[in-house]
Amino acid sequence: MRRLPFVQSEIGQVSSNLNTLKKNASESIPKKTIQWKKRPQQENTCQTNSPKEDTRGSMWSVFRGDALDAYSHWPTPSVIISDGAYGVGGFPGDPRTTNDLADWYEPHVESWSRHAQAASTLWFWNTELGWATVHPVLIRHGWEYVQTIVWDKGVAHIAGNVNSDTIRQFPVVTEVCVFYRRRLEFNTPSGAMSAKQWLRYEWQRTGLPLNRANAACGVANAATRKYLTQDWLWYLPPPEMMQRLVAYANEHGRPDGRPYYSLDGTVPATLSDWAQLRGTWSHSHGITNVWSVPPLNGGERYKGNGVRSAPRVHRPGRNAAVHLNQKPLEFMRRIISAATVPGDMVWEPFGGLCSALVAAVELGRDGYAAELVEHFADLAVERLKAVSEQHPLTSNA
Ligand SMILES: C[S@@+](CC[C@H](N)C(=O)[O-])C[C@H]1O[C@@H](n2cnc3c(N)ncnc32)[C@H](O)[C@@H]1O
Repeated sequence: MRRLPFVQSEIGQVSSNLNTLKKNASESIPKKTIQWKKRPQQENTCQTNSPKEDTRGSMWSVFRGDALDAYSHWPTPSVIISDGAYGVGGFPGDPRTTNDLADWYEPHVESWSRHAQAASTLWFWNTELGWATVHPVLIRHGWEYVQTIVWDKGVAHIAGNVNSDTIRQFPVVTEVCVFYRRRLEFNTPSGAMSAKQWLRYEWQRTGLPLNRANAACGVANAATRKYLTQDWLWYLPPPEMMQRLVAYANEHGRPDGRPYYSLDGTVPATLSDWAQLRGTWSHSHGITNVWSVPPLNGGERYKGNGVRSAPRVHRPGRNAAVHLNQKPLEFMRRIISAATVPGDMVWEPFGGLCSALVAAVELGRDGYAAELVEHFADLAVERLKAVSEQHPLTSNA
C-alpha cells in the first residue's frame, strides 16, 4: 500500500488527503527528525589545505577545508549565514565576474536545502548583482525571499578620485544581505499549496463561512482579513491564533472532513507543530533593513602583519587588513539575535575570520564553520578561543 501524505522533506510539505488518511490511519508517519550525529572522521578533499581535524570548542567547530565536505557532518542549522563568493576575485577561488556565480553556489545551496529544517533561515551576503545572479538558484531549491538588508557603508567608502570622468554611475557604497526562509508547501488532493492557499482551503473544507474565523480567534474581523485572505495583507498566523483556528475548525467544521489543519494527516496541528514551522523571530525596535555602518576599522579589524590576504592586496603592510571581507560583528549579532534563541545552531559555510561564529558564541548559540585557507582558519580559531574565554557563562571552551 502506498504511504501518503505527509510531512515531506525539510520544507514541511503536508497532505490532507482524507480518503487516504482513513486507509492509512494505522501507519506510522515519516517525519524529519533532527539528528545530532557523532561526527565521523572526515576525509578532507580540499586542495588548499593538508588534511586536518576540525578545530573545536565546546560551542563551535571550524572545518579546515571545503564546506561541501563538511555539511553532512554538521547538526541541523537554525540559521545559515552565507558570505561566500562575490564574483569580484576577492579571495582565492572567488570568480572574477558574476558570470559563474550561480554554478559556484549551486552545490552549496542544494546541500543547505537538504540539511535545513522547515524553520531554518538563510542570510545571503553579496553585492546586488551577485545576489541577483544567485537568487534563481535559491528559489529553485525551496528558499523563499523575505527581505533585502542594505549595508550602507557611507560616503567614506568612496575610494580615490571619483568624478564623472572616472566613473559614469553613482558610487557604490553598499552590499546586501538577503533574508530567506524555507518555502512551506502543503500537499492536498487539489495539488500542492502555499501556506496562504492552504489556510483558506482548509477553512473552506470545514463548510464554515470565512467570517467565522474571527469568532474562532476572538477578534472583530482581523482573522479573516489576515489569515484567510489571498492578497498582500496575508501573513502566517502566530501559533496561539493558529491553535484557535485549528480548534474551532475541528469542533465546528463538517464532521466528515476532519481532521482539519493536520500536518500528518491524522491529528490536527498543535501549537508546537505550528511554532516549529514558523521559526524564531525576536523583534528589535528601531532596526530597519538599512544598516548604515562604515566598513570595519580600528580594533575589530584583524591586521595582516604583512601577510597577503587577497588578490587585490599587492603589497600588504603591517596594518593591512588580513581579510578584506571581514564583516562587522554587530551585523552578525543582529541576525543571530533576531533569528535564533540560545542553544540554536548557526552555520557559517564560508568562514573567513568566522565573524558569525564569534557572534554566536557571544550570544550563547552553537556554530559550525568551514574555511579553505589555512591562515584564515588559524586566525578564526584564535578569535573563537578568545571570545570563548571572554564569555565563560555562555561557553566552556
Ligand atoms: C567573504 S569571505 C567571509 C568573511 C567572513 N564573513 C568574515 O567576517 O570574516 C569568504 C571566505 O570563504 C572562504 N571559502 C571560499 N570557498 C569556500 C568553501 N568552498 N569552503 C570553505 N571556505 C570557503 C574563503 O577562503 C574566504 O575566506
